[in-house]
Amino acid sequence: MKSPLIAPSVLAADFSRLAEAVAQIDEAGADWVHLDVMDGKFVPPLTFGPKMAADLRPHCSSVFDVHLMVFHPENLIEDFARAGADYITFHTEAVIHSHRLLGAIQDLGKKAGISIVPSTPVSAIEPLLPYTDLVLVMTVNPGYGGQSLIPDCLEKVRTLAALRSRGIGEYLISIDGGVSRLTASLIREAGVDVMVTGSAFFDDPDKAGLVRELKGE
Ligand code: DX5
Ligand code: ZN
Repeated sequence: MKSPLIAPSVLAADFSRLAEAVAQIDEAGADWVHLDVMDGKFVPPLTFGPKMAADLRPHCSSVFDVHLMVFHPENLIEDFARAGADYITFHTEAVIHSHRLLGAIQDLGKKAGISIVPSTPVSAIEPLLPYTDLVLVMTVNPGYGGQSLIPDCLEKVRTLAALRSRGIGEYLISIDGGVSRLTASLIREAGVDVMVTGSAFFDDPDKAGLVRELKGE
């Protein structure tokens, strides 16, 4: 089994010191920086927009993995592309014309991702699988860090991996919510390519050790 990529989310970091947080992500040997964008409508909290991504971009060399938990994500994709995002993922629950939006992100030269909340089945995005670069399976209801992983959601990872092995799409499977030292082996066994981790990463004094453990090394 290939080691998953690790994508710490700065949501759990001190927002007054985000440049240090992204540098820590690089230093710990993690692979991606996960940026949780919340609009106060699709999810209750508000976080930050494209300017934050642009300002952080010079402070680390990792891939920027932008997770848009917003209504009308189409209004943000150009600014995030310009800000240095590498992956831009939106929620299918927030969008009617998902194929068009995936194409628009790819036309900006970026990788496009689709995310589903715990109550959305894989069947809701099956028609999109040939067109997406990443599927982000939420294992908690989005909006807050530090919640417990809903184990039933791991079945969706297995379903997505099975569909892909039948030749339906070439996407990465990412998981977001409740990833920790305790849940890591269960998640890896389900067959994920990317593990997002917020509180587990920023609460852990041994960040490099955590990254190795999450990867199963
Ligand atoms: C939640 C966010 C997550 C969050 C995960 O809505 O999308 O990326 O940071 O936090 P933990 O790892 O603490 O569950
Ligand atoms: Zn996220």
